[in-house]
Amino acid sequence: MNNNIKLNENTYWIGKVDDRDVPFHRLVLTKGTTYNSYLLKTKKPTVIDTVDISFGREYVENLKTLIDPMEIEYIVINHSEPDHSGGLGSLAAQAKNATIVCTEPAEYELKEMYKLHKRNFLIVKDGDKLDIGGKTLRFFETPYLHTEETMITYCEEDKILYPCDIFSTHIANYDYFNDLAKEDIDEDFSVYYSLIMHPHRTYVQKMINKIKDMDIDIIAPSHGYILREDAKKYINMYDMLSRNTDLSKKALILYSTMTSNTKKIAGKIKEYLENLDIATDIMDTSKVSKEEAIEAIKDADAIFLGSSTRYGDMIGNIEDTLKELKNIDLEGKVGVAFGSYGWSGESIEIIQDYLKATNMKVLSTSDLIKSTGRIDIEFPIRVRFSLNNEQEEKRVERSIEYVSSILLNNK
Ligand code: FEO
Repeated sequence: MNNNIKLNENTYWIGKVDDRDVPFHRLVLTKGTTYNSYLLKTKKPTVIDTVDISFGREYVENLKTLIDPMEIEYIVINHSEPDHSGGLGSLAAQAKNATIVCTEPAEYELKEMYKLHKRNFLIVKDGDKLDIGGKTLRFFETPYLHTEETMITYCEEDKILYPCDIFSTHIANYDYFNDLAKEDIDEDFSVYYSLIMHPHRTYVQKMINKIKDMDIDIIAPSHGYILREDAKKYINMYDMLSRNTDLSKKALILYSTMTSNTKKIAGKIKEYLENLDIATDIMDTSKVSKEEAIEAIKDADAIFLGSSTRYGDMIGNIEDTLKELKNIDLEGKVGVAFGSYGWSGESIEIIQDYLKATNMKVLSTSDLIKSTGRIDIEFPIRVRFSLNNEQEEKRVERSIEYVSSILLNNK
């Protein structure tokens, strides 16, 4: 580690450059990456994020050339994934006086991952402040960018934003700062955004709203270049890339309902889609002909098909339409099964089987976990009895936000 990498008088880069081909989320980062960690050497010395778990011991040995770990008062962990929290086990073992600062969901993960059940944790919420002896840190929760527990940290006096994965690039480099980069980093920056952040674009917009009035001189992310030249440009890029500028996408919700529970879910899906500027038609199969339903399916980009379950099967005439689907070219469309159920919800799975027999992209929880790691949403959308609690509504809303991100990636 080069100990002379400073963001200002008493803020040090203490990370690790990883110039291997790095396996990551079933990709290989052929340009490598960096794991950026920072030391704020104030009266209450604070470390922000650590490095990949492979480099934990090396990281702590290097850090000792700058500070005695026993002096460290706070270790801020913005994101639990082991490429940033991986050095925490080694660091905490030597920084015995340090309090670990993180969000509530991160506390559980960090305690379990690094066996830190007996350590002091400080749980922070949106907007909380922490005096670190001459400087003030503020914390903002940024859930699903890209995992539930993530937050960003802002140092008021230094005007430095520490957003962990957000605003990162995967480029191993020994220049550290974007104004010293020997290459144009904008394409790598956009590729990183597309791969890691765009599937969560509605949360990108929420994050932008939280930081838009901050005075930010430097963005110090946890991969790639520190953005100290034209930081605003990179915020604007995220803003532009995450907006829905394609207003041509259309969705269709086709349902069959028994006691109106599936109808209510269909209504909520429509509401959420329209909030995301996706024009949405809704049809009760008992009130349209099979031919009308097929024409509407051909015209839509996303197709939601839902039924209640009665005696282990679908109800009404929806199966007449489902039987036709395999004979239609649905290439490029997105399919989602949904429905209310009381016991097992067989009809939802039968609809899913019909959708899988077509050539459209059918969303499934298994594929989602493998491609994004998200376990907070699920496909098919299964609701036991009625959509009647806030937690379940939020889960459905997040699922619809994901569908919208898929639609806009299909441009
Ligand atoms: Fe860079 Fe989500 O880890």
